[in-house]
Amino acid sequence: MKLKVLVVAGDGIGPEVTAEAVRILRSVAELGGHDFEFREAVIGGAAIKAHGTPLPESTLEAALESDAVLLGAVGSNEFNALPPDKRPEAGLLQIRQALGGYGNLRPAFAWPSLAVNSPLKPEVTDGADIIFVRELLGGLYFGQPREWNRETNSAYNTMRYTRDEIVRVARVAFELAGSRRQKVTSVDKANVLETSQLWRATVTEVAKDYPGIALDHQYVDSFAMHLMNIPRNFDVVLTENLFGDILSDEAAVITGSLGMLPSATVGGKVNLYEPVHGSAPDIAGKGLANPLGAILTGAMLLRHSAGLDQDAQAIETAVRKVLEAGYRTADLVRGESKQKLTTQEMGQKVFEALNEIIDRSQALHAV
Ligand code: IPM
Ligand code: MN
Repeated sequence: MKLKVLVVAGDGIGPEVTAEAVRILRSVAELGGHDFEFREAVIGGAAIKAHGTPLPESTLEAALESDAVLLGAVGSNEFNALPPDKRPEAGLLQIRQALGGYGNLRPAFAWPSLAVNSPLKPEVTDGADIIFVRELLGGLYFGQPREWNRETNSAYNTMRYTRDEIVRVARVAFELAGSRRQKVTSVDKANVLETSQLWRATVTEVAKDYPGIALDHQYVDSFAMHLMNIPRNFDVVLTENLFGDILSDEAAVITGSLGMLPSATVGGKVNLYEPVHGSAPDIAGKGLANPLGAILTGAMLLRHSAGLDQDAQAIETAVRKVLEAGYRTADLVRGESKQKLTTQEMGQKVFEALNEIIDRSQALHAV
């Protein structure tokens, strides 16, 4: 298997967590006899410093030539005063748009050994296994016109969706549900917004092509509450861009740390893989960041861009074992811990667990 991966580590903790993900992917390649090629490029604040723009042409070209893009995080306080289209985040939105992926998959899973990390009671989080399908190229993030008018002291953004944009992302959700627990919850604000009324009508129509899948509609405000009350009721959650941004951070509460959440963006020319956590500039470069979100993002890359589902599962199992053995990064430590690890040490533990798992499965196959 040959795979060209462009690594855009970005800002803050991006480089340190991405380095651990790449190490894990390299080890999968070595153990499985695959040929993975990793190239690097800059984005976000790092790119503004080096090239004066958050998404240099060279990065975009390299991304379009690769089979998958692995991104760390984007955002840096240095650039807070810049207008939205000049900030590091603009680079992220531009690369998302250029690669064309519209379905952003964000799993939120209650790892049993992290049950005490959630502020929710274990009996609430127990069994929670959700995947958000966040529409990634429409809505308020990209709608035109948009403006902050300093003369009139007013500002506006445009929330716009077309039927086709909704149909394609809804299909991603229904397909996924088919391989899970056969349930889609579509989240909108159809009691107030026309975009949501179109959303609801369109999703209802698409559902007719998937008779085996149960579809439920919820308003975003009440969904936000149910998500904390009975998270195990949800399987695939389909929603528009901004609602998905907000709800996927809320779902981190189920897992116990934002540092655990991976994501994959599918449907475009090149799939884009990025952990959900941001650049966390306050802890950057200190070995405090949790690399598991990035490592699990690497697993999603293998699953969705390389068809290596078994290897993806092996990484997920390695993460589970390391957590079960009690190893924790700073964000996951509760009270005193003898097993508090740095970013790199955590990467090393997953690396060791993965090698053991793959060795064992190869030994079985050899018999
Ligand atoms: C995310 C982030 C981004 C988003 C920011 C950094 C632009 O919060 O991926 O969730 O809002 O999409
Ligand atoms: Mn977000």
